[in-house]
Amino acid sequence: MKPDKALGTWVLILACMVFGMTVGGGHARTIGAGFTIQVWKPFTGWIPPHSAADWAYLFGLFQKTALYQSHPISLDQYKALFWPMFLDRCWGRLMALVFLIPFTVFLIQGRLRGKKALWMGFIFLCGAGQAAFGWYMVQTGMQPGVLSPPPLWGGPHLATAMLIFALLVWTGLTFRTPEPVAVPGAAHLRSLATASVGLIWLTMGFGALVATSNAITVFNSFPTMDGAWVPPGMLDLHPLALNFVQNKATVQFCHRLLATVTALTVLATAATGLRMKLSPALRDNFLLLAGFVALQYLLGITTIVLGSANLGYVHELNAVLLFATALAARHKLRGALPAPGAQSLPAAAE
Ligand code: HEM
Repeated sequence: MKPDKALGTWVLILACMVFGMTVGGGHARTIGAGFTIQVWKPFTGWIPPHSAADWAYLFGLFQKTALYQSHPISLDQYKALFWPMFLDRCWGRLMALVFLIPFTVFLIQGRLRGKKALWMGFIFLCGAGQAAFGWYMVQTGMQPGVLSPPPLWGGPHLATAMLIFALLVWTGLTFRTPEPVAVPGAAHLRSLATASVGLIWLTMGFGALVATSNAITVFNSFPTMDGAWVPPGMLDLHPLALNFVQNKATVQFCHRLLATVTALTVLATAATGLRMKLSPALRDNFLLLAGFVALQYLLGITTIVLGSANLGYVHELNAVLLFATALAARHKLRGALPAPGAQSLPAAAE
């Protein structure tokens, strides 16, 4: 496969747009705007409400949600929540266009064909599925007693968004640099980088459960959880599996534990990489990785100790940057070889 910078840049722009969607989604969650738009018009939803009748219709739908019924707000307050959510949805539509227009052009030019075209089509379907998933979450607001998107949907929503993000980052980087560059003696580093990517993703998934179950309101101390290493009430819910989604003590405990294992693994990866003779680009990558993970851990501690959802939002965005940095490092290690002198064995490279 030949390098194609234009294809790669296009896919990396899409990855940046997924990051933008996380910025918008996280903001909507922080201000409690998730349930404000109870209509789904994938094609005509660009058009903002412009008459009193439009507003009355949208506000009327919102008034049917359990959130409104437990916390009534005025039309002006509704509008303040509406616009961020509206922009977030328009961003999603813009992403679809930024996907489809270049996709069609690249198809016509013959730059995207065969497996590459199918693969990009698959990523598009994943994105469409993610949008439908988001819509399902929004309309849970119409169910009695549901005041915010339930953790059972909110947690996986971030986890699947990050999978799509990972596919885009990996594919974009591969279009730009299709051939792995041999990195002698770095096979163990590649395993560490793979573990880092997997652990960051898992920790992020549990982080989303902490956020959606509002577990930030309990155990606001560190390193112990109100004086206990294992919080009381960890496995109180039945069936047992429910604790790992909805029990504030369990999800926060799991997130802290996973975060610690993740931070240690990522730091070990960065330290191992920095002790080896690597290209300047890889070294920079490992330096960034160490910096982002340290910042992420500190932000997590500050978020819980202060119980600040705004800091939680910054913590969420930094997690995406950390994830992207780990993915980039792992991508550069595709050509890692087991030991010096073995680089002539092409089978060892991916
Ligand atoms: C490698 C380390 C970590 C990663 C990758 C990570 C990732 C995340 C992510 C992605 C979220 C946000 C999910 C969302 O808003 O949907 C989150 C939330 C959260 N994390 Fe972490 N985290 C890490 C470390 C920590 C640590 C060490 C703590 C505290 C001891 C912590 C406490 C929290 C809290 C309290 C929230 C909820 C914030 C809110 O409700 O707005 N995190 N984490």
